[in-house]
Amino acid sequence: MTATSSDIEKAAGVLRAGGLVALPTETVYGLGANAEDPAAVTRIFEVKGRPPTHPLIVHVAAAAQLDDWVAEVPPAARLLADRFWPGPLTLVLRRGTRVPLEATGGLETVAVRVPDHPVALALLSAFGGGVTAPSANRFGQVSPTTAANVRSELGGAVDFVLDGGPCEVGVESTIVDVTGEQPAILRPGGVTREDLAAVLGHPVAVPSTSGVRVPGQHPSHYAPRARVVLVEPKKILAEAELAQEDGCQVGVFLPPQLADAPVKAHAVVVLPESPAAYARGLYGFLRELDQQGCDLIVASLPPEEGLGLAIGNRLRRAAGPRAVT
Ligand code: TXA
Ligand code: MG
Repeated sequence: MTATSSDIEKAAGVLRAGGLVALPTETVYGLGANAEDPAAVTRIFEVKGRPPTHPLIVHVAAAAQLDDWVAEVPPAARLLADRFWPGPLTLVLRRGTRVPLEATGGLETVAVRVPDHPVALALLSAFGGGVTAPSANRFGQVSPTTAANVRSELGGAVDFVLDGGPCEVGVESTIVDVTGEQPAILRPGGVTREDLAAVLGHPVAVPSTSGVRVPGQHPSHYAPRARVVLVEPKKILAEAELAQEDGCQVGVFLPPQLADAPVKAHAVVVLPESPAAYARGLYGFLRELDQQGCDLIVASLPPEEGLGLAIGNRLRRAAGPRAVT
């Protein structure tokens, strides 16, 4: 059931008292704390089991608040904030003094975003300050896209869960570092590289898949319980059959053009045609195959354009260091 205004008030009170609130955003559910309360921020890391050096995103209610949290706003950052906020874009800027080092993992930069979800925006307005929120899952696991996912993953460790329905975008925000000479994408996400280039008037550097400087860029992340293997689309059926004959419980991410093909596997998800629907469903599909008892998931990488870049990034992380075979 979607959060009511009294739920919002209650959640704002929990944040003021130093508690943790799970909140819906358009990308995934977040595990929120008062960004200016180091003890509350520290609890986020404990609940997630996340290393303390992994920086968090500060969520604010409006682009006009950006200046309160950062040391300076370069022109490119202003342009991107004006164009994409509220929305699935996170900007990394030089840290303002208001941001405790607990929130930035000790870094002198801070990540900031304005989420595009009515419940998140209502909470941020009612609370008034910034809310640090990583995805509301245990470290390395699949991100939650429903309130039920949050409850089953974190349960009693969260003081209050705001339900805002299923997330519309389904993959995390695009993180853009605007502290350097040129903006650079640190994590592909809900705002595409093409959209960024159109607004900036020039191409934006593509994330390196090997760099591990940025947390969330560890080889294995966003991972279901089942092992994930990535193969070429034309090899999906053969790979699934082989593994199933080997005694694996195989789950298949079946491309829509193969929807009618006979599949020898334990469970099948027929992928949607549109990249937006694929992104929206991605984490739910991974959870579903886990729930059906699969121990291996066979999938392919989508074309690296539009949302395909973010989907492919999450699939690679889910596949861990094995990557494409
Ligand atoms: O869509 C999202 O971004 C979701 C929702 C809840 O807003 N949040 C999210 O948070 O994905 P999290 O903690 O799971 O991932 C945030 C990532 C970190 O893993 C790190 O890569 C990056 O943001 N990050 C945060 N601060 C940074 C900084 N100062 N410099 C570089 N990267 C930073
Ligand atoms: Mg996360």
